[in-house]
Amino acid sequence: MHHFLNEKKRISKSRWGHIISERVSELPDSEFENIMKIAKEDQSVISLGPGEPDFDAPAPIVNATIKALKEGKTHYASIPGLPALREMIARKLKKENHISLDDPMNEICVTAGSTEGLLMGLLSVVDAGEEVLTPNPAFLAYEPMIDMVTGEPVPYKLSDKDGFQIHPEEIREKITNKTRAIILNTPANPTGSVLSKKVLEEIADIAVENELIVFSDEAYEKFCFGKSKHVSMASLNGMHDYVLTFHSFSKSYAMPGFRLGYVAGHHELVKKMSQIHIYTSLAASTANQYGAMAALEMNQKYVEKMKHSYDERRKLTLQLLKNTHTLHVEKEPEGAFYVFPRITNGKKSSEYVHTMLKKAKVLMVPGNEFGKHGEGFARISYATGKDKIKEAFERIKQAGF
Ligand SMILES: Cc1ncc(COP(=O)(O)O)c(C=O)c1O
Repeated sequence: MHHFLNEKKRISKSRWGHIISERVSELPDSEFENIMKIAKEDQSVISLGPGEPDFDAPAPIVNATIKALKEGKTHYASIPGLPALREMIARKLKKENHISLDDPMNEICVTAGSTEGLLMGLLSVVDAGEEVLTPNPAFLAYEPMIDMVTGEPVPYKLSDKDGFQIHPEEIREKITNKTRAIILNTPANPTGSVLSKKVLEEIADIAVENELIVFSDEAYEKFCFGKSKHVSMASLNGMHDYVLTFHSFSKSYAMPGFRLGYVAGHHELVKKMSQIHIYTSLAASTANQYGAMAALEMNQKYVEKMKHSYDERRKLTLQLLKNTHTLHVEKEPEGAFYVFPRITNGKKSSEYVHTMLKKAKVLMVPGNEFGKHGEGFARISYATGKDKIKEAFERIKQAGF
């Protein structure tokens, strides 16, 4: 007989500390969520915060997904993804990224966004206490993910002085006998920087010399502006075995809610990642994978149009930023859909962003959300309409920032 049948037994607050695993006990509370919530609740706020396209997914993608559901594609997909989708991805990788795989069907795994892929990759490569070099400031998931797999994040600093480029010699200095992997992100969140081929080649040499696996996060691959050009690390000579490439449908085709991405790499690694996939999510959403096939097959003018629109907004944002007194852009960003200006009135990121929210009703994301070297900066997303961008900067001016 159950002793407490009629009595509610509560776990005291202090006990939760013992119950929750050490692995996750220190995961950071994201301020990002909170401020995005404020922006959603207060209709008078203009948000320059979003980390996702303001476009809806193009019609061919939505239609293909609905069609798949109506046709009864409501069952599990094969673990690494629908074979037809993987074949299309292999062709796309070859044509657009110049990545040739030895054995495409065993070297691609479709994931629930590249977020899941990144975690699966870390689980496959990193043992407890081993080190992963990670950019800072960077996409806010990298360091917590490394913590979750009980690895050690070793941040390498990116600075606005040179447009947040990587200095390969600094990477080399940080390598120890515990280093297993290095994360790269190009074009980058939150800085908008695009890594040059020369920098990638130098890092490739370092990776091969030290037998490191490069995690190449290319979620914003489609959005390189001006003269900048996206180069995939895995396309460089001799890098096939050393690189896990992470691509995402979220930004390229405006389908973040579909939660679809894919990873490509050596079959030994992808096999392990597919096994992890079995024990965590089993497979990515079946119907959404039909949507993804439509994304790869549709007229790519949809993507070109989005890119063109982002570029116009980027130029507008950079122009309007020149009129502000408290935000400074050292070098113009060339990729993704972010600008990461330095705060010049001596305020810390969080205080600056909160004051702006209160006085100007404009929302930015505090730079320290993206790591300690993001302190003193704010992230502006221009994945929002031009009129809103103009109105936001008018308010910023009126409020004296
Ligand atoms: C650099 C970077 N990588 C990965 C992701 C995650 O994308 P996904 O929606 O594919 O999980 C994001 C999302 O903002 C990102 O900025």
